[in-house]
Amino acid sequence: APAPLIDRFDRRVTYLRLSVTDRCDLRCAYCMPERMRFLPKAEVLTLEELHRLALAFIDRGVTKIRLTGGEPLVRRDVMDLVRALGRRLGTGLEELTLTTNGTQLSEHAEALAAAGVKRVNVSLDTLDPALFARLTRRDALVRVLEGIAAAKAAGLRVKLNAVALKGLNEAELPSLMEWAHGEGHDLTLIEAMPLGEVDGERAEHYLPLTAVRDAMEARFTLVPLAGSTGGPARYVKVAETGGQLGFITPLTRNFCASCNRVRVTATGQFYGCLGGAESVDLRAALRSDAPDARLDGALDAAMRLKPERHHFRIAPGVAPTVGRHMSVTGG
Ligand code: GTP
Ligand code: 5AD
Ligand code: SF4
Repeated sequence: APAPLIDRFDRRVTYLRLSVTDRCDLRCAYCMPERMRFLPKAEVLTLEELHRLALAFIDRGVTKIRLTGGEPLVRRDVMDLVRALGRRLGTGLEELTLTTNGTQLSEHAEALAAAGVKRVNVSLDTLDPALFARLTRRDALVRVLEGIAAAKAAGLRVKLNAVALKGLNEAELPSLMEWAHGEGHDLTLIEAMPLGEVDGERAEHYLPLTAVRDAMEARFTLVPLAGSTGGPARYVKVAETGGQLGFITPLTRNFCASCNRVRVTATGQFYGCLGGAESVDLRAALRSDAPDARLDGALDAAMRLKPERHHFRIAPGVAPTVGRHMSVTGG
């Protein structure tokens, strides 16, 4: 059997985050500038290339694939990829999922479920229409809420992601959680990470989740849960609501020692870490005359580059730790 993907720190990689586009129909202020420059189409992997790439990872022991972006559902042919990968579920691939901003979920929820997707993560930082418009620079809250409802109606499990922002959604987080749990959705809170240039000063709204956790603990009973998705989130169960609350704390407490994941950008660049600087060009392998053999070798090289940990820092006047935007690396 082909060799599993194991890095220099003995971490086994079983989880691929694959960005299918850097484009997005929102402009979240912590993610990108208002006038974001997107990549020319020719730079982005084709549907066939994405499929071949995903299969190469599955051959090497990846059991979970999460499609990301940008916004994965703004890519026109993305459902073809979902259906193709869905056919691999049960034969190596165990879980196929995506992280979406929800604006197009109404149209795609049924098809996602039919393709074998069981759960989706939806970004939702606020339920306040004015704040939503300010944070995302688009007026799309109603569509996102419709999308979330459509996902639930289609039988998909929904996890909501909220970036915690000081002075913005900070005061609303307890009620956002109560709403999410009332709807049957888990909620994960995320610390803003210093990725890519945005307009304005990111440090101004950076909120350490230690503070949020204390505030939540003053109002709710948080029962720690063991087990995880092998991911960065640590979960608690909230006794009063019965729902789960996750904390992703790349800045206040890193989780790198147990990292099981790698990511590939929409242009086929492999990054062993969201905060990593070194990449391997899988697109060059894909576009060579012996793509499968070249890919295998490139994956071996890539695994040697997966860094031990990330070193994020947010402070006033300090440039982003990583120049790439989250929408390029895919979160
Ligand atoms: P699971 O697959 O269920 O573990 O989901 P997840 O929470 O990891 O995925 P999701 O796409 O919902 O990501 C939520 C947030 O976690 C995003 O802001 C991601 O960028 C961040 N995140 C995911 N993986 C990593 C990681 O390896 N390192 C860091 N620093 N952040 C990550
Ligand atoms: N820091 C933390 N989270 C971010 N996201 C986008 N940019 C950042 C950032 N700089 C989040 C989105 C979405 C997920 C994929 O990444 O809110 O939930
Ligand atoms: Fe788009 Fe997600 Fe970035 Fe918001 S965080 S602009 S939804 S890619």
